[in-house]
Amino acid sequence: MIRIDSVTKRYPDGTVAVDRLSLEIPDRSVTVLVGPSGCGKTTTLRMINRMVEPSEGSILLDGQDIRQQPVNTLRRSMGYVIQNAGLFQHRTILDNIATVPRLLGRPKREARARAAELMERVGLDAALAKRYPYQLSGGQQQRVGVARALAADPPVLLMDEPFSAVDPVVRKGLQDELLRIQDELGKTIVFVTHDIDEAIKLGTKVAVLRTGGRLAQFAPPAELLSAPADAFVEDFLGADRGIRRLSFFPAAGLELQTAPVVPIDADAGRLASGAAAPYLLVTDADGRPLGWSEPDRLTAGAVDRERLLDFGRPFVPDTDSLRTALDGAVLSPTGWAVAVDGEGRAVGVVSQQVIGEAIRDAHGRVAARADAKAGR
Ligand SMILES: Nc1ncnc2c1ncn2[C@@H]1O[C@H](COP(=O)(O)OP(=O)(O)O)[C@@H](O)[C@H]1O
Ligand SMILES: [Mg+2]
Repeated sequence: MIRIDSVTKRYPDGTVAVDRLSLEIPDRSVTVLVGPSGCGKTTTLRMINRMVEPSEGSILLDGQDIRQQPVNTLRRSMGYVIQNAGLFQHRTILDNIATVPRLLGRPKREARARAAELMERVGLDAALAKRYPYQLSGGQQQRVGVARALAADPPVLLMDEPFSAVDPVVRKGLQDELLRIQDELGKTIVFVTHDIDEAIKLGTKVAVLRTGGRLAQFAPPAELLSAPADAFVEDFLGADRGIRRLSFFPAAGLELQTAPVVPIDADAGRLASGAAAPYLLVTDADGRPLGWSEPDRLTAGAVDRERLLDFGRPFVPDTDSLRTALDGAVLSPTGWAVAVDGEGRAVGVVSQQVIGEAIRDAHGRVAARADAKAGR
């Protein structure tokens, strides 16, 4: 665990970049530092690997003051990734990644084998190994940066706005990749960003800093969204806080109705008997949804696929959130969301009203937990 204990950084010109900051950064999770430009994020990160020394306070790594070990040993235990990757332009991709193992005295062959393994881990095609950084896209370079930081297998990764310079689609891919790597390798990641959505997506816990390097709130993302500490945090979180928070409530508990789901080749009599629902979801022979129909249209004869109503975007109850389910219901012209299994086969439907009740229940549970925590 990294413990930042009442740390202040005053630069020689008098700028207070970080002001009495205390944070406990848990092992094997992603802790995000987020805040507007100039709020002291980079300074904080650099104090963790001693590229910047605190003016006051101390930083502990596994209970030991980081000043008690040689700075090189400390840095070896901490991979560092920056915006635009900071690659060596005159070295191939493979040799960029092999840099640290080589510095640590590993034989060239072994270091390169390790680099090749890491390329695969971060989703880089082996064919890129002999290229130079300028021959890669921004997103690919960023992956190289991550691979290089992982090369010496450090327990800690410090990442300073690593994905800020790439376009939103590539960025989403990099974020997903980071979460996957974290899942597999269990690193302790301290991730800096100015983008609150990135913070909420990646962070196990998120520290919101305000200008002057003061901590505004340190909490899991769902708690930030439900209970921002003050107007600054609320403003920084931005619009649609309530809707975004639904991402943290699983859709698994939703009660699905199967009666309105009918296969396209079912006989008309059986279809008519399901007419308690205002709409029926027609599926193909494999159970994949085709669209909605009013029951009496189905009983009239063969199903005209062209006339079925679009079923919006289905959700997977086991893995999706109430946000995705609600989105599906809102997008569906019938107001009912379609639930599918991993293979895309309809497993049931659920109305906006039922989703609404599930949301209220989830809010109730969160409030009860908060009360319990506060000893109320
Ligand atoms: N070497 C430096 N000397 C003087 N002031 C600095 C130095 N580095 C950063 N600062 C100032 O410290 C504050 C925090 O900077 P920084 O940690 O880079 O913020 P962030 O990464 O959140 O944008 C800013 O006001 C910045 O101008
Ligand atoms: Mg910065």
